Amino acid sequence: MSRPEVRLAERLSRARRVTAITGAGVSAASGIPTFRGAQGLWRSFRPEELATPEAFARDPGTVWEWYAWRRELVSRARPNRAHEILAGWSRSRRFERFALVTQNVDGLHERAGTRGVIRFHGSLFEVGCWNACRGSPRRWPDERVPFPEMPPRCPHCGGLLRPGVVWFGEAIPPEALSASLDALDCDVCLVVGTSSVVYPAAGLAAEVKRRGAFTVEVNPEATDVSASLDLAIAAPAEVALDEVERLLNV
Ligand code: APR
Repeated sequence: MSRPEVRLAERLSRARRVTAITGAGVSAASGIPTFRGAQGLWRSFRPEELATPEAFARDPGTVWEWYAWRRELVSRARPNRAHEILAGWSRSRRFERFALVTQNVDGLHERAGTRGVIRFHGSLFEVGCWNACRGSPRRWPDERVPFPEMPPRCPHCGGLLRPGVVWFGEAIPPEALSASLDALDCDVCLVVGTSSVVYPAAGLAAEVKRRGAFTVEVNPEATDVSASLDLAIAAPAEVALDEVERLLNV
């Protein structure tokens, strides 16, 4: 049996429609901590104290301190080889259609030049009005690092701004959900850098396989879905995708 990277490259060379579903592991090589890995964010912080509407209602200052820290960290980071290769596939004519659904809120796929990124969990660099005031759109871009005032205020009503991410217990934005479900009609789907434990994102891999796609996990560690997919490449994304890209260009 040939190496998994060779099998993936072979499948990609015949594919017309390709979809990638990505998670925090893709940004690990850019110095952004994952959530559940050894130095993961949820090892030192409690999600229920920082990433829920209830936590924000209770203590918006602390929640904003944490998101401001992550914005600052990400603003100093750079896309890595995995981001670059996926961006290249999104811009090239290699595939009839390439779609990228990301759980990441760091914007590194976009900064790498990826076209048509579907943000399943929103963005660190978008905000909304906590009061959902009449004058404000649901979300708008805000890349100020640092904010001139903490916690940041809504320019429309003077109330609190909230981070433009999807918190635990909140619904996936309908436009992102429907675009993601459309993207599951593909020939090859790569599930890259996610522990596949947070739903509904974690359910996308099983659905894309059910629809007949050849499904591949890229993750140095086994996850809950590894055994149920067609192929698992047990390597960091920046290494595995670099090798696959090399094989595609041989
Ligand atoms: N390349 C590929 N995968 C990697 C790499 C790497 N270089 N480094 C780590 N990983 C893998 C880890 O083995 C782990 O399985 O990435 C995965 C990261 O998992 P999580 O930290 O759970 O992140 P993710 O799956 O994206 O979390 C899902 O949970 O906290 C919420 O909203 C948040 O979007 C996030 C969601």
